[in-house]
Amino acid sequence: MSTKFELKNLASGKISQLDALSGTLGPDALDISQLTKDQGVFTFDPGFMATASTESKITFIDGDAGVLLYRGYPVEQLADKSSYLEVANLLIEGQLPTKLKLSAFQNSIMHHTMVNEQLLRFFQGFHHNAHPMAMVSAVVASMAAFYHDTTDINDPRHREIFSHRIIAKLPTIAAAAYKHSLGQPFVYPRNDLRYCANMLNMFFAVPCEPYAIDPVAAEALDLLFILHADHEQNASTSTVRLAGSTGANPYAAISAGVSALWGPAHGGANEAVLDMLLGIGSVENIDKFLARVKAKDSNVRLMGFGHRVYKNFDPRAKIIRSMCYRVLDKLGKSDNPLFELSLRLEEVALKDEYFVSRKLYPNVDFYSGIIYSALGIPRSMFTVMFAIARTAGWVAHWLEMVSDPNMKISRPRQLYTGPKKLDYLPIEKR
Ligand code: ACO
Repeated sequence: MSTKFELKNLASGKISQLDALSGTLGPDALDISQLTKDQGVFTFDPGFMATASTESKITFIDGDAGVLLYRGYPVEQLADKSSYLEVANLLIEGQLPTKLKLSAFQNSIMHHTMVNEQLLRFFQGFHHNAHPMAMVSAVVASMAAFYHDTTDINDPRHREIFSHRIIAKLPTIAAAAYKHSLGQPFVYPRNDLRYCANMLNMFFAVPCEPYAIDPVAAEALDLLFILHADHEQNASTSTVRLAGSTGANPYAAISAGVSALWGPAHGGANEAVLDMLLGIGSVENIDKFLARVKAKDSNVRLMGFGHRVYKNFDPRAKIIRSMCYRVLDKLGKSDNPLFELSLRLEEVALKDEYFVSRKLYPNVDFYSGIIYSALGIPRSMFTVMFAIARTAGWVAHWLEMVSDPNMKISRPRQLYTGPKKLDYLPIEKR
């Protein structure tokens, strides 16, 4: 039975009854959909601090306990036992696939990896030092111009083809952006390889010599991708939902998500963490750096720390930190000064009253850049890697939204604080 709340307007005495909707896990959500009609007021919640923007069955986070579930499965178990494409399928379909279904999904993804040759020409229009996120968001948006035969969002088969295409082609587009920045020839996808091995091959192979894909690197990438695959209604996923709620073509919605991810408060943090570590330089400078972070009115943040939802360890950060030891060791790079520096920085911050009192812990991005660097991926590509992984989540959320017969355009309201009605003054009287 749902709990009822009463909201009383103390001036007029009018009372509204509000239902608290219960999910399967997590706090109830007050249903305020009739409040404006009833009381003539809006609710005000900048930054969505206390607002559930949608109902969803995909991912659950308990930020106090540090729990993350994809379709009910703890991320730790998936990281230990699953693969990125299996997780992508789980997120999209809602249940773990059978052997047959997984193999069909993998086969479909690995046979949609090529992009239209004309689409590759877009890269020639970009300056060599364009940020890869700028290139990727632009090229993803342009995909609707090439694949417009399957953008009827009301057709389930179109939706399926779109979702396979975007998951399959994003690594190809990312690799093209990277090769463009290096001035190297583009390397075509190889469908005989697994998803992450193919990506490494497209990134690092060159036509003049053989390239051996390191299975340790491919496995590490796959694991990072599982951890980044979804995170419920984060800023980029909410952006995909908002853009998609207008009925826009799905490539445009994903491109909007890529753009939202780029910000340093979100997916851009992985690049910013490495910049920060390089700026700190060595452990002797940690105290000086943290003093700058803590200074009143300072705009300096400890990047890779803090999260809107986690007020405890981000479970993904814990996995990535232990993964760093294993991967760096296997790659023969265990003597890694940046990893040493980040471990010490975490240790100092977690004992510091400033971070303790604000419940600031390492998030997913504090350690991910260490691994990307060890794999030879440059800093400017870190957020692109995040975007490729998060595409599975974006697609799952977009599908959940557009398959809902009650889908509504997202249209928030505002508290207007601008001037009241003014009369136009001719220019000579101003
Ligand atoms: N370093 C220093 N202080 C911080 C940090 C940080 N990383 N994060 C939060 N704080 C402080 C704020 O200054 C504020 O202090 P105050 O109460 O004295 O004013 C308090 O903690 C609350 O911070 P808010 O910014 O209000 O928290 P919010 O939930 O809005 O922000 C965010 C969350 C954006 C992630 C923030 O913690 C941050 O900027 N972190 C650094 C960037 C980062 O790592 N982003 C990646 C997040 S994970 C992801 O998106 C993949």
